[in-house]
Order: sequence, then C-alpha cells, then structure tokens
Amino acid sequence: MSSQYDEWAKVYDMIYGNYKDDLAFYLEEAKKTNGKILEVACGTGRIYIELLKQGMSAVGIDISEEMITTLKKKARENNLNPEVYVADMRNFRLNEKFSIIIVPFRSFLYNLTTDDQLKTLLNFKTHLLPGGRLILNFFYPDIERMMSFGKESEDLIVMDNGRYVLREKSFFVDEVNQTIETVAALFKDKELFWRGAYRLALIYKREFELLLRLTGFGKWLVYGGFDKRPLTSYKQEMVWIVENP
Ligand SMILES: C[S@@+](CC[C@H](N)C(=O)[O-])C[C@H]1O[C@@H](n2cnc3c(N)ncnc32)[C@H](O)[C@@H]1O
Repeated sequence: MSSQYDEWAKVYDMIYGNYKDDLAFYLEEAKKTNGKILEVACGTGRIYIELLKQGMSAVGIDISEEMITTLKKKARENNLNPEVYVADMRNFRLNEKFSIIIVPFRSFLYNLTTDDQLKTLLNFKTHLLPGGRLILNFFYPDIERMMSFGKESEDLIVMDNGRYVLREKSFFVDEVNQTIETVAALFKDKELFWRGAYRLALIYKREFELLLRLTGFGKWLVYGGFDKRPLTSYKQEMVWIVENP
C-alpha cells in the first residue's frame, strides 16, 4: 500500500527525531498498565521504539509502508522485536483489545472529515478493553497560528553530513471545514534536497468533546500540556486522556 506519507519517511527522523517534549508523558502513562499498548500512526517509531526499550508490550500501526520499514530497521539495530502493521486508523482490524491506545504527535488530525474522525474513534473503541484509555494530543486551533498562515518559516537542521534549511508554510485548504495544508522543503547548500506536504483538520476542544460523546466515550480529562497543567489558553497543546466505559 503506498501512501502520501511515504515521502516523509525519508526525512522524518532528520526533522522530528529529536523532538522529545511528549516522550516522558507517554512513557509514564503507558507504564501505568500491565496490559498491551497500541500506538496508532507510530511512524518511524519515535515513541514506539522507546516503549519496547522499556520492556513494554506494544503493537504499532501506520498507513505508510515506508514509515513502518524505517521503524523495523531501527528496531533491528536495537535488537528489538516490533509488532507493527501497515494499516489505516479508520478501518484497521486487530484480533485483540488493548488497555491503552496512544495517538501521539497530533496524528488524529490526519482525519480530515467528521466522518473519518467518527470512524476512527469508533474503531479505537472496538479495540479498547472496558476501562481502557485512549490518550492523544493535538494543538488548539490558535488564532495567532492562523494569522501566520501564508508566511514561510525557516529552521536550521544540523546533521553529521551537513547543514539543512527547512522552509515551511501553512495555509487553509478549506476555510469553512477548517482543513489546512503545510508544504515543506529541505535545502542542503541552497539546493533543493526534498519536498513534501501534509493536510490536517483543525479541531476545537468542544468539537472533540462532541465527537467523544457521539462515539460513546463518557469520561475524559483534557490538559493544557504534557505536564498536565489546566487548559486555559489557545497557545497550549490539548492532551486528552479518555476512558472507555
Ligand atoms: C506526525 S507523524 C507521527 C509519527 C509518530 N507517532 C511520532 O510521534 O513520531 C504522523 C503519522 O501518521 C501516519 N498516518 C496518517 N494518516 C494515517 C491513517 N489514516 N492511519 C494510520 N496512520 C496514518 C503517517 O503515515 C505518519 O507516520
């Protein structure tokens, strides 16, 4: 199965491999269970591989075969035995239920339509044990972030083999249904090295709460960051801990 995210596998670890703000949070939540963990949209294993390193039992799924191939290679290098599958969060079927499903790094937002969001949440519910927890995070649709749409940002990435410049720009694809696209390009020595794009849905707190209600989740907590402080500002990351009845 080829996916639009395959392109990202080539540069994902270069760009995001060192991002660790969420790691301690997900590891701590995962450690609270003796049961099996499912990471949805596990990518190249930024979090998944750490779960295995800590001796936890975890399954991973991702829609991109290239991401999964990279994850498996990294796991081999670390003498780890991953259980990962190429699958779509909207319709995957695994013959087991999990104590925790985690969806780190805003990956729920890849569900662009309400139908997809509902399908995915119902599918999570099918794969959760009674009393199991769904844990995920995504950004609050921040008015200041939207004001910067159309403007290019530039970041320097220093690797062993040289210095790269990452240029990114986001814009609305659909202003009414609130979907956005980010286009990214990596330059090495001013030459284009790689180009990619991805689309996300913007989801407000109350919108996600309605989705949870519609899919039969009754209880949840939403924090304003990985240190579990109260959510009081649109500048904060929404960190959700949702209980399966
Ligand atoms: C931002 S990356 C997150 C990867 C990893 N969880 C991490 O924290 O580094 C988003 C991932 O979502 C995957 N993805 C996008 N849509 C998906 C879908 N419908 N089902 C499963 N995975 C999906 C992409 O292939 C990509 O690997």
